[in-house]
Amino acid sequence: MLEIYNPEQDSFLLSKVLLKQIPKLLKKNKNLTFLEIGCGSGIQLQTALELGIKKQNIFSCDINPKAVKHCKKLRFHCVKSDLFEKIGDRGYQSEAMKRYLPSTLRGRSEVIELREKSRNRQRQLGGRVGRKIKGFPRKYNLIIFNPPYLPEDKREPKNSCLATTGGKKGNEIILRFLKQAKKYLEEDGKIFLITSSLSEKIDFEKLGYKEKEIGCEKLFFERLCVWEIKLFK
Ligand SMILES: C[S@@+](CC[C@H](N)C(=O)[O-])C[C@H]1O[C@@H](n2cnc3c(N)ncnc32)[C@H](O)[C@@H]1O
Repeated sequence: MLEIYNPEQDSFLLSKVLLKQIPKLLKKNKNLTFLEIGCGSGIQLQTALELGIKKQNIFSCDINPKAVKHCKKLRFHCVKSDLFEKIGDRGYQSEAMKRYLPSTLRGRSEVIELREKSRNRQRQLGGRVGRKIKGFPRKYNLIIFNPPYLPEDKREPKNSCLATTGGKKGNEIILRFLKQAKKYLEEDGKIFLITSSLSEKIDFEKLGYKEKEIGCEKLFFERLCVWEIKLFK
């Protein structure tokens, strides 16, 4: 049985960073849009809300359906998604739809008919219909992720692996996240991401980012870091 991740040192470290950084970001932009990947218990969503980010601008997802159900109960926008898989419907138009949409659209019935044609075309192409979730913006000012970052350990129970294990080297999910995140970040947007000294190092520059350490905690056996990451311009 899957469990919802109970907030640990990594969660508290990230909350501490949010506490320091979000007021500064809100000073510059009152309508800051916020996305958390892997929201778990919703601790960071609550922090973001308490710090003044508008609830309608707080979005989240988790791969664990239990966590999603829990955060929805807390009345946050939340969706079950493997990283960004289901994020970004607002303004989203499928390639098939684009092909069918003429520049001069007249009536609503025409739009509905074209949508139907587009869906049929997607089915023919073997694509999944309605992949993205409605109402989630495509781009965000702030994206945060306290990821599963530990290297695989066969002794780790299956029900907690999903929240803690990042792959053989520990950084595989982070690398996948960073490759996808670019598309979802506003041009001047920021990512706050946790890494651990126990997993393989990330070459942010190679992935098209510049990074700055904005928080860290030395534990008995590892060092946790929070990185502020921006697109390399
Ligand atoms: C270390 S926990 C952090 C939970 C919470 N954000 C916190 O700070 O306490 C990692 C979370 O990421 C979720 N997760 C793991 N892999 C994921 C993926 N591929 N896509 C989305 N969420 C994922 C887990 O289910 C878990 O809730």
